[in-house]
Amino acid sequence: MTDVAPILSARDIVSGYGPVQILKGVSVEVLPGEIVTIIGPNGAGKSTLLKAIFGLLPVTEGHVSLHGVDITRLSTENLVRAGIGFVPQTNNVFSSLTIRENLLMGGFIRDEGLQDRFDWVVSLFPDLGSRLSEKTGKLSGGQRQMVAIGRALMLEPKILLLDEPSASLSPKMSEMVFEKVREINGLGTAALMVEQDAQRALAISHRGYVLAAGENRYEGPASDLLGSDDVRRLYLGA
Ligand SMILES: Nc1ncnc2c1ncn2[C@@H]1O[C@H](COP(=O)(O)OP(=O)(O)OP(=O)(O)O)[C@@H](O)[C@H]1O
Ligand SMILES: [Mg+2]
Repeated sequence: MTDVAPILSARDIVSGYGPVQILKGVSVEVLPGEIVTIIGPNGAGKSTLLKAIFGLLPVTEGHVSLHGVDITRLSTENLVRAGIGFVPQTNNVFSSLTIRENLLMGGFIRDEGLQDRFDWVVSLFPDLGSRLSEKTGKLSGGQRQMVAIGRALMLEPKILLLDEPSASLSPKMSEMVFEKVREINGLGTAALMVEQDAQRALAISHRGYVLAAGENRYEGPASDLLGSDDVRRLYLGA
């Protein structure tokens, strides 16, 4: 499709939960500098795909590569070291810990530069900077999401996997989160994002994929997905 080598490539991924196969050979790729959004109905396998890429579920067939290097069966810790950051859909912060502690936990395997990176992440989220000693359990949903994203950024990932970053946020907060993802992307981090709010997510994305029932259904430039009558009717509720 293009001669630019992808940062992340997941090819023909088969995965699921124990004997229950959910992904039936799904492929997605992210090129350098891209935000790519995966949309699709509930239960399509979107979260399952991110978990499989991040080594939280076994990949029984298919391959994942990062900058052309096969990472299919690396442990989650080694995937993080290789440059993948993951912001899960739920329970993505330690509520009983402070903002500072959450961010530092994100950087715990750094050998050097922890303080510099911490300062950089805090500078990206000015709202958090003045409340570093507050427990994240007391924060608003939007602020918690910022902590979760900030934590994932502590190891300077090459690519960020985001599972429904706008889930259960107000429209204003969602907008803020998407704006932040765009800003982070502008600073050089690619993103693979799963979202229910397909309109807003695609609006900041370069390309998109539609997954349904564990299979690829559509893919293309985000503007094509937004403009496609089929995609709008079937998947965008329009
Ligand atoms: N821990 C689990 N054990 C068994 N089956 C699961 C588990 N988690 C999810 N599933 C099943 O896998 C399928 C895909 O779920 P997944 O969470 O990947 O969907 P999704 O596309 O992320 O949906 P949503 O939009 O609701 O988040 C669903 O049928 C779901 O019931
Ligand atoms: Mg999900």
